[in-house]
Amino acid sequence: MLLDVRGLEAGYGPSKVLFGLDLVIAEGEVVTLLGRNGMGKSTTVKCLSGLLRPTAGEILFKGARIDRAPPHVIAHGGLGLVPEGRHIFANLTVRENLLMAAIRRGDRKDPWTFERVLDFFPRLAERLGNGGAQLSGGEQQMLAIGRALMTNPDLLVLDEATEGLAPLIRQQIWRKLEALKAMGLAMIVIDKELDALLGLADRHYVIEKGEIVWRGDSAALDADKTAQDAYLGV
Ligand SMILES: Nc1ncnc2c1ncn2[C@@H]1O[C@H](COP(=O)(O)OP(=O)(O)O)[C@@H](O)[C@H]1O
Ligand SMILES: [Mg+2]
Repeated sequence: MLLDVRGLEAGYGPSKVLFGLDLVIAEGEVVTLLGRNGMGKSTTVKCLSGLLRPTAGEILFKGARIDRAPPHVIAHGGLGLVPEGRHIFANLTVRENLLMAAIRRGDRKDPWTFERVLDFFPRLAERLGNGGAQLSGGEQQMLAIGRALMTNPDLLVLDEATEGLAPLIRQQIWRKLEALKAMGLAMIVIDKELDALLGLADRHYVIEKGEIVWRGDSAALDADKTAQDAYLGV
């Protein structure tokens, strides 16, 4: 397993959010975390990326425990994060945002480089000297994804992949994620656009009140209107 999460519990001070969450991801697999607002998706992502320390449970990434590791160690270990809200550096240029994220790995036969990220997102190449604050929402999300790719991740985690973007831009992002999947990159994708997720992902986990209440592949989720009604409010 690329990622193996067992009995994950976490919260904020006295308020507990995750109550024993289990999930696994194989190499090259694309899975989603679904569930209504406030159910614990971002809290799970924060635990995976080292931004929040779990209170119980284990997170194994490539066979090693990462649940006590700080964010930079996890990033260097190969977990790339596209956080909710993007968090690009508004006062740095596109070039600076990308270059400061770079992590080189000797073991890659086709590593992500500055040039390769610009080939993948030509729009960013046209915006290299622009500050992060001058970018459109879509460009910011491309930059956030490009920045994560610069770390040469084995697992890319996207929290609200297309939130707040116009339909046409969302489509562009979905096409890019499909291209990354075709390259064999494993991903965890969080988003509200169920149709796009059903097309992109292999498997799905539904979180409700900090627990996994449904899991299955795209065909099963597509067919299970009861689960969709109960857990996703669609
Ligand atoms: N920094 C925080 N401090 C306190 N409570 C938080 C914080 N972030 C999230 N929460 C609470 O944790 C719960 C789960 O939130 P979150 O994981 O962000 O949900 P989701 O991403 O599924 O919408 C919510 O009740 C939310 O209000
Ligand atoms: Mg969230």
